[in-house]
Amino acid sequence: MATNESESHPPVHPEKKSYSTRRDFLLQVGAVLNAIAGFMIGLPLVGFILSSLIKSTPPVWFSLGPVSNFQEGAMRMAVYENPYRREADGQTARLTCWVHRISGDQFKVFAANCTHLGCPVRWFEESQLFLCPCHGGAFYADGEHAAGPPPRGLYVYEHKIVNGELQVKAGVLPTLAFPV
Ligand code: FES
Repeated sequence: MATNESESHPPVHPEKKSYSTRRDFLLQVGAVLNAIAGFMIGLPLVGFILSSLIKSTPPVWFSLGPVSNFQEGAMRMAVYENPYRREADGQTARLTCWVHRISGDQFKVFAANCTHLGCPVRWFEESQLFLCPCHGGAFYADGEHAAGPPPRGLYVYEHKIVNGELQVKAGVLPTLAFPV
């Protein structure tokens, strides 16, 4: 028995079918784009939160050389290589600190970065002050704040003497976030 084609399959309006398909397609594209945007925004945020929980660069002890390199009573600049240097760091991996050999094995090692905005400070023997060239910050020989905008004294490296060598805890700059 022959069946009537129009009864078994109701006719589909060609424009209606095409509209539905395009709408679905656009919805899917929109969902994918939203997912990509959400991922791109969320990833750095997750990285930021996790990086504060994971200490990937624990400080390491680094030698500044024999104690005899530092004259008693004198302030001397010392440069050391960041133990966590990366290839792109170039000269910025060379970190500077100021070493004060107070007497004998008594040392104080200061980070060279000003506690205002981080410019490198210099020691001036004549005035017995560390001076910052950027905004006129000044610090006494013991690192305490003397004048200018810096909110506090210089940060101090933890140090120790091992086999006649002066070592500092390197790898992170000493700040209030990483008190050493
Ligand atoms: S950075 Fe040293 S005073 Fe501003």
